[in-house]
Amino acid sequence: MNILAIESSCDETAVSVVRDGRQVLSDEVLSQADMHALYGGVVPEIASRNHIKVISRLADSALEKAGLTKAEIDAVAVTYAPGLIGALLVGVNFAKAAAMALGVPLIPVHHVRGHIAANYVAFPELEPPFLCLAISGGNTIIVDVRGYTDMSVIGSTHDDAAGECFDKAARVLGLPYPGGRPMQELAEKGDDRAYKLPNARIDGRPYDMSFSGLKTAVVNIAHTAGQKGEEIDRAGLAASFQRAVSEALVPRTMSAARELGYDKIVVAGGVAANKRVRADFEEACRAEGKTLFVPPLRLCGDNGAMIGAQAYYEYLAGTRAGAELNAYATREIDADFSDLG
Ligand code: KG4
Repeated sequence: MNILAIESSCDETAVSVVRDGRQVLSDEVLSQADMHALYGGVVPEIASRNHIKVISRLADSALEKAGLTKAEIDAVAVTYAPGLIGALLVGVNFAKAAAMALGVPLIPVHHVRGHIAANYVAFPELEPPFLCLAISGGNTIIVDVRGYTDMSVIGSTHDDAAGECFDKAARVLGLPYPGGRPMQELAEKGDDRAYKLPNARIDGRPYDMSFSGLKTAVVNIAHTAGQKGEEIDRAGLAASFQRAVSEALVPRTMSAARELGYDKIVVAGGVAANKRVRADFEEACRAEGKTLFVPPLRLCGDNGAMIGAQAYYEYLAGTRAGAELNAYATREIDADFSDLG
């Protein structure tokens, strides 16, 4: 089954053709990050306008690179939530029109389910059940993935997502948007014990997280030094910050896996690209004899292949959308699609 998959939830426009959930025939991704870097973050209006400009061209190119004609597409899939509403609507509308014109089913896909599914593309042997930490610019959740479309959140951030926290801390250190990668590069030159930073715990909710205190601590260190005219150890602060984020994510995920009895740990989303987080997971999984799955870098960030992969399993589970499909800025990963009005 060939699925044409569309992703436009933030600042990447992506179109992919995926066969039977696992085989990526083409994967076109156009990032607008450079345009948003000027403003230090994503400007929703600019994102929507740019999606609209490029989406048809990307879809043509995805079909051409897949070596397929339009008649060989069996379904169209699209990210319908969560994300920037105007950005999502561009993809949803395009996908609706494409499905209607081709006379094929329309499959709505939750963006974070897509991030998890990036691992199905990367690891042909991987099947649920497993425990997943999904860490991106907009979401940070620990998910009990019982089946391809049967999952529930067992822990989540109460405020900032891990990626958002990276971006904000990077900005304070004068690094460009998106800040994750530049922070990682700066951290590589620093001592991760240079600064003592907070690791928040939520009473009675061992798998929940909070990153706002960490972000504020970095802001305060930078501002206090600025006011006193002192230099900060930027590399040391970046390294200490990165260690604090990893220490908030890795032990919680490992402890949730122990409690639920999972031997497979999956990491997904843009922050899964982080070298420190990957290394800490590798070490923890080695120590506990668990198997770790983390996608290659190109599948960590937003892409269409992950949407096409998840869409296949959504299709098998009977998930379909009609012409009334809407986009949603927020939507739980375990929400039943049939509840949508
Ligand atoms: O998954 P993604 O591309 O978009 C969302 O679905 O949100 O994630 C983007 C986030 C950004 O916050 C970016 O700074 C972060 O992933 N990121 C990283 C790294 N590469 C990207 N964070 C830490 N280390 C990295 N190497």
